Amino acid sequence: MSENPARFEIAHLARVELLSPKPQETEDFFTRFLGMYVTQREGQSVYLRGYEDPYQWSLKITESPQAGMDHFAMRTHSAEALDRREKSLNDANVDRAWQDGDFGYGKTLKYQTPDGHNVSLVWEAEKYVAPPELQSKILTRPSKKPLQGIPVKRIDHLNLMASDVTPVKESFERHLGFQTTERVVDGDVEIGAWMSSNLLAHEVACMRDLTGGRGKLHHVAFYYGNLQHNVDAAEMFRDYDIQIEAGPDTHGITQGQFLYVFEPGGNRVELFGSAGFMHLDPDATTKTWDMADIDTGLAIGGAKLPWETYFTYGTPSPLALDAHIEKFVHFGPGMAPPEPSPQTDLAGSSA
Ligand SMILES: [Fe+2]
Ligand SMILES: [Fe+2]
Repeated sequence: MSENPARFEIAHLARVELLSPKPQETEDFFTRFLGMYVTQREGQSVYLRGYEDPYQWSLKITESPQAGMDHFAMRTHSAEALDRREKSLNDANVDRAWQDGDFGYGKTLKYQTPDGHNVSLVWEAEKYVAPPELQSKILTRPSKKPLQGIPVKRIDHLNLMASDVTPVKESFERHLGFQTTERVVDGDVEIGAWMSSNLLAHEVACMRDLTGGRGKLHHVAFYYGNLQHNVDAAEMFRDYDIQIEAGPDTHGITQGQFLYVFEPGGNRVELFGSAGFMHLDPDATTKTWDMADIDTGLAIGGAKLPWETYFTYGTPSPLALDAHIEKFVHFGPGMAPPEPSPQTDLAGSSA
């Protein structure tokens, strides 16, 4: 691998805006179960942060008829890095626009991935300063660990579904300086890519949408750093009827420890235990998994990631989660997906 001059231009994933048809239940999920703090309310939106998120918010929940992701934002390493990323997009004639910042963030560059996901790039970000009663004695922690649910520390990463993984991957590599740490191929077709802009194994992943959909969210992940929290969270979610999809287990890909659940609005959320391997080697080669080894790649401990959801459901979804599961229950490897449904049953409306 040759030198990547744009590596470290993107510091990290700063925030995600989720859309929810059940905004109060979605807010309750993130506050009561995952211990996130509400920092602002505006119109039909609420802004939240984990107790180690550095900025005013890492998660915005906005009421919407359908579940999904409005956008995600990466923070650049400097103001100049943001300008250089804009130049890279300009040189490739990618449509883009500067906008005023949302709450707690400054001017924002917006564009889309080749599959239609909304990307924002920001440099200016207001640090969260806790009121005296929430200040932690641990100086690297911007606020106390809350006494509520099993609190997540911070936002961790994003997984996008795409009709075609390769151009999305190449867009992150070319314009944002990401390195692809791992990928999955099925014959000649790239069906998954895990990409890093920093020392984490991945900040963004992209997986092929087997239903042929474009521009969906697969999941947003929040960080615990500890497998026991995933185990405890699974018990909590069982007791309180939050739908668990898979886990706790450990991926071979990234070596991250996972627990996947569906928040009440219909979006998939991952709770991340240990972040897995660290991306320290500056010229590490991309590791390629093929389908013969995919079971190890997906879950070292043998947890099954369900075909009727994990490989087919993302948001926005033409079907609510329950209806999607019913339709895809017999779907499996090598099969053609069921025909698109004629009715529009919005995701989350009966999930
Ligand atoms: Fe993930
Ligand atoms: Fe995962």
